[in-house]
Amino acid sequence: MGKSILIINGPNLNMLGTRQPEVYGSDTLADIEAACVARGKALDLTIDFRQTNDEGEMVDWIQAARTDHDGIVINAAAYTHTSVAVLDALLAVEMPVIEVHLSNIHQRDEFRQHSYVAKAATGMICGLGAQGYSLALEALASRLGTNGGSTA
Ligand code: DQA
Repeated sequence: MGKSILIINGPNLNMLGTRQPEVYGSDTLADIEAACVARGKALDLTIDFRQTNDEGEMVDWIQAARTDHDGIVINAAAYTHTSVAVLDALLAVEMPVIEVHLSNIHQRDEFRQHSYVAKAATGMICGLGAQGYSLALEALASRLGTNGGSTA
């Protein structure tokens, strides 16, 4: 049976497509969701794709993933750089977590170069735009041992 992956998107990612396209690309969040669902199908993963502007809601979703999902892809957006609460929730959930950022946070403002999420993440993909989400699903598929996941 396919494993279930929760994909969490943080604040302002609902504005993708019109928000600083020179930094974040021209894909909308709906475009990224469609690509994730298609990639998930090929990898035998069920995709639950969400976005919130609310830190507490993000924490609630991570906590619930413990029973409802097998792995997490998270672009916590600005909360990446500020939220110990999100970090603590990810540490508590005990499942593979792949951190994604559209932009290369290490080439940007100094305050973006520190990630609390990274302390709980199995791995991080940044700077590859929307493709990062598909690569994160590949990584989870191989770790969870589902069909189609490469073992690299
Ligand atoms: C981001 C990078 C963050 O620094 C920023 O706050 C975002 C998006 C990214 O995907 O590149 O909102 O997570």
